[in-house]
Amino acid sequence: MRRARRRGPARTPAGLAGAEPGSGFEITFDGRPVRALPGQSIAAALWAASVLSWRTTRVNGRPRGAFCGIGSCFDCLATVNGEPGLRACLLPARPGDAVTTQEGTGHAAPRP
Ligand code: FES
Repeated sequence: MRRARRRGPARTPAGLAGAEPGSGFEITFDGRPVRALPGQSIAAALWAASVLSWRTTRVNGRPRGAFCGIGSCFDCLATVNGEPGLRACLLPARPGDAVTTQEGTGHAAPRP
């Protein structure tokens, strides 16, 4: 039996959730402008701009970006407006946010 094609509102974010996206705005990543949309996480904005890594690991300096996308793995830690160790996948982008690559723990080296 063939299923009848369902008619109705378009299956878009606006149709499904009643979303009314606002106009985009700009954040920066290492000084470079990146477009973001209201409600979009910093990780999503960086991905949309083809930025896939924004942190290096403490031990080997390996590149990291978003992995789980739901706040569980902490791979996406970023420095945002000077504050290190923020999960970019959970943090909504705000106009003018300055995101910078986080190296190691993102904290200054311990004092001797
Ligand atoms: S991507 Fe896993 S905590 Fe953000």
